[in-house]
Amino acid sequence: MVFSMEPPAQHAGLSALPCRELRGEIRPPGDKSISHRAIMLGMLSIGTTEIHGLLEGEDVLATINACRALGADIEQIGAQWFVTGVGIGGLRPPENVLNMGNSGTACRLMTGILASHPLQCFLNGDASLRARPMQRVTIPLSKMGARFETTQGRLPLMILGAHQPIPITYSLPVVSAQVKSAVLFSGLNCPGTTSVIESIPTRNHTERMLPLFGAEISVQQDQAGASLIALRGHQELHAAQLNVPADISSAAFALVAAAVVPGSEITLHHVMNNQTRNGIVQTLIEMGANITTTPRENMCGENTVDIVIAQAPLTGIRVPAERVPSMVDEFPILAVAAACAAGVTRFENISELCVKESDRLSETANMLLTAGVEVATGDDWMEITGRAEIPGGGVISTGGDHRIAMSTLILGCICAKGMSITDRSAILTSYPNFIPQMQDLGCILKSS
Ligand code: S3P
Repeated sequence: MVFSMEPPAQHAGLSALPCRELRGEIRPPGDKSISHRAIMLGMLSIGTTEIHGLLEGEDVLATINACRALGADIEQIGAQWFVTGVGIGGLRPPENVLNMGNSGTACRLMTGILASHPLQCFLNGDASLRARPMQRVTIPLSKMGARFETTQGRLPLMILGAHQPIPITYSLPVVSAQVKSAVLFSGLNCPGTTSVIESIPTRNHTERMLPLFGAEISVQQDQAGASLIALRGHQELHAAQLNVPADISSAAFALVAAAVVPGSEITLHHVMNNQTRNGIVQTLIEMGANITTTPRENMCGENTVDIVIAQAPLTGIRVPAERVPSMVDEFPILAVAAACAAGVTRFENISELCVKESDRLSETANMLLTAGVEVATGDDWMEITGRAEIPGGGVISTGGDHRIAMSTLILGCICAKGMSITDRSAILTSYPNFIPQMQDLGCILKSS
């Protein structure tokens, strides 16, 4: 018998070596936020929802498994997914603990749905998810009548959904679309109207997608930019046909790669262009990136564009604090652009990064320092001093964070000695075809 000491291929290490002239066209995977919501709303609808372009990453598979356990019939035929729902109020008690894997969105949004259904459920996740705060949703959902037992405010947790849920008006204390969506999803099975007030805009996919399933939702904005989002409960949701646009958060890796690798020019197709999500594009343009966009069709209630980006010299900037929610997942990859921009790039108001899939403020700084880039950090800010030649040669243990893993590999494309990650498996969370797509564009990625 032969015993191998090698890790399974899916967990093997991966190195990115310096490369030149990225070329080609890709369609990045379906948007993660939209994919979660499409499956969940499909479960709460009457009829069969058809979804094209769903992200088949592990995060969304966690949502699919949880929805199946709650009674939805979910099938994949070729590139299409079919979700036959049970209707609002029709969920069945799951037989086992719902395992939300690595996904904060799956976990927070599902907690919202369960809070207004009279079931007892147990939720757990991987080590990263078990370290993330759940009180941001359990506090408002308790006001709606749900009961929770948590592990010091985190997973594993037990939910006892409300038998007689109470609608609330909730002013968001954290700038979080997950919290907004959890309260609204809970409101779907409440009598009366559930409202959320957000003083700073967060991604608005829940508001845009509910009408596609036939629900009425009102959004009123005041002059200061605050929104009152109101949803009447007990509306029947009807199955929808959805075509998921490409995820700007995944597109960001190729965007930054093409912005910094000498001689590059690439095209990204059908990328969602939503004001609450496109801070990365705006920021790269301000840094000097050569970007042109061409409008494409509306998908899932969202505008999409084809983006052409060519390499150009970048200059460091201060990213406006109010832009953070529209690019909250893109700071690790933006830090790679900053590492080769002339001068200093400053991020402010980024304390939320500390409670993402890892402490991304520290992990991003660690990635850059390991590559030989000068970084200074505080509780909620980071300053990166770009350099013309980055030595690299370091190895990053990504702590299970998909965006740190992919950012490290893009950084490796422009480091003299490349960069490596110890375990590639985290990439499957949000971008299952990242490695072949980046190789098609000309990145040199090798097992290590
Ligand atoms: C998401 C919202 C964001 C984001 C996450 C997806 C969503 O989290 O980081 O990847 O789909 O609602 P917060 O809303 O907590 O900032």
